[in-house]
Amino acid sequence: MGRSRFVDHMPRAAMPDFPHLASLRRARHIAVFTGAGMSAESGIPTFRERMTGLWARTDPMEVATPRAFRADPQRVWDWHVNVAAAVRNARPNAGHRAIAALAAGGRRVSVVTQNIDGLHQAAGSEAVVELHGNLFRLKPFVDEDAAFAAPEPPVICGVCDGYAAWERCDHFATREDLAGLVLAAGAVPRCPCCGALLRPDVVWFEEMLDPLVLDAAMAAVDGCEALICVGSSLEVEPAASLPWRALRRGVPVLEINPQATALSAHVVSLRGRAAELLPSLILDLAG
Ligand code: OAD
Repeated sequence: MGRSRFVDHMPRAAMPDFPHLASLRRARHIAVFTGAGMSAESGIPTFRERMTGLWARTDPMEVATPRAFRADPQRVWDWHVNVAAAVRNARPNAGHRAIAALAAGGRRVSVVTQNIDGLHQAAGSEAVVELHGNLFRLKPFVDEDAAFAAPEPPVICGVCDGYAAWERCDHFATREDLAGLVLAAGAVPRCPCCGALLRPDVVWFEEMLDPLVLDAAMAAVDGCEALICVGSSLEVEPAASLPWRALRRGVPVLEINPQATALSAHVVSLRGRAAELLPSLILDLAG
């Protein structure tokens, strides 16, 4: 593989020619793989910044785990409510909008994101694979340890698909009742049918990714003719392997990141910010 080729940030509509630009223009299916840097210009601190910056008062590794929820559900819920307050006001930036615009004109675009903020969908992207879930969706807390320790096998609730917490389910409760519950300040909500505690539908530390979601991400990467990797440090597996998977197939990979990553030396790496570079690039690809 070749040496790193860095292209300095250029103003909008002055995207320089670089290797693969022609194949990117021709690609009928482009996968866009994004990380926290994608939403940085929407005002959401990147994950590494959160460890040291604004949100560092509580170490996420202390509160974003199944163990922490089992020990103190309310503390974990309240932490997510706080995070959501910052994320809820964020709006898609020019980079999110540019990615959504890439699909105009009939090209297939698959967005695979590690972000849990829903900003790609808010910008109009369809077919978004959310590898790490979505902060604003809830799901039941499934405590496998408790289920194994219980004398009887657990009953699966027909409404939330979790392990029923109450002995008798409320048969009048529906999935619509469940869908009406949101991440908001107050007591940790329970499934209205079976009483299971609800939690944000995000991947916590010590948890596996949903295999169906990972399959969808791999299918997008395996089916694309070019991949654009935006704003990820590529330090967290299995997500981090996805751009490498495309590269191994010989597909052109383009990276957009103000900082070098392990991938940078092997692909065309545009050094700059997503909201500045993506509109120029996508204007170019659309033309
Ligand atoms: P990181 O916070 O690890 O990395 C953010 C990346 O974005 C860095 O490489 C920055 O250089 C880059 N960046 C910063 N500002 C940018 C901008 N304006 N435009 C483009 N890039 C910019 O975030 P992720 O790689 O997404 O997982 O982290 C991956 C996962 O780590 C997260 O999804 C989270 C965490 O563990 C879970 O919660 C499961």
